[in-house]
Amino acid sequence: MAKSVLLATRRLPPAIEAEAARDFDARLTPSETVMPDLLAQVQDAQADAILCCPGDVLNASVIAALPASVKVIGTFSVGYDHVDVAAAQARGIKLCNTPDVLSVATAECAMLLLMMAARRAGEGERLVRSGRWRGWAPTQLLGTQVSGRRLGIFGMGRIGRELARMARGFGMEIHYRDMARLPPDLEQGAVFHDDDDSFLPICQTLSLNAPGGDGTRHWLNPARIARLPRGTVIVNAARGSLVDDAALIAALRSGHVAAAGLDVYNNEPNLDPAYLTLENVVLLPHLGSATVETRDAMGRVVLSGIAALLAGRTPANMVT
Ligand code: DGY
Repeated sequence: MAKSVLLATRRLPPAIEAEAARDFDARLTPSETVMPDLLAQVQDAQADAILCCPGDVLNASVIAALPASVKVIGTFSVGYDHVDVAAAQARGIKLCNTPDVLSVATAECAMLLLMMAARRAGEGERLVRSGRWRGWAPTQLLGTQVSGRRLGIFGMGRIGRELARMARGFGMEIHYRDMARLPPDLEQGAVFHDDDDSFLPICQTLSLNAPGGDGTRHWLNPARIARLPRGTVIVNAARGSLVDDAALIAALRSGHVAAAGLDVYNNEPNLDPAYLTLENVVLLPHLGSATVETRDAMGRVVLSGIAALLAGRTPANMVT
């Protein structure tokens, strides 16, 4: 039987390309950047399935223009805010993603950003590399201790809970804001807040771990920032769309927010250039899940989800 045609929009880890070539008529690409002519490529290949990535724009008009051959979209990510789910549903196109397997790596990234931002590690690294470092001094690059402080987590899904687990190792007191309270076995003693009024003022540090999309767009806005304690440290390893950049930049400039650690941005990779001028922000290139183990696991999960959906089964990682 002929294999289904799978079009990958981005270069994949070698083990995953091998797996894709084994299980599909795989149309792979050497490119690590967004495919400029996605529709033409899908049309050309008469693809049964598309393996896409964050940054690919699969909005309603792109989905409407896909050829009838496309039955499944798999995204190499847990987040699927780049895919118009309703439009896919309307076309009868199934969607799957990569939940679970990236939680540890992404939480590690959030923890790393928190530490780097609070302890001014980016500034320190730049100082050493510049050749201007003159040696130890009692007042040099004083940051904020993270251990024992309160950590507010906005979005207590798998990644948020993994971050909470790691932060407990630093003796942090965990508070979280989400739509509903978790059962005690998942909450693990974290304090639930059902409104911003009680949540924001306790956030000596704050990590954004909610999904992107319309429901959370610019959640971190001027009004919420104003209710955070002065000197807070903010981390975002979730989605850039959660942050109103102008508001965060103003707060970083004024010192109301002492420091921020960002892995994700609005309009990636063209982040707001004002961030580049600020010493008190650590900037990473969306590498939350970027470990060999995690990317291989993500690739396997999405490929098996695509195969299952093409075969008419319902995999655990089906979105819709
Ligand atoms: C995701 O999976 O949504 C991440 O942002 C990519 O690592």
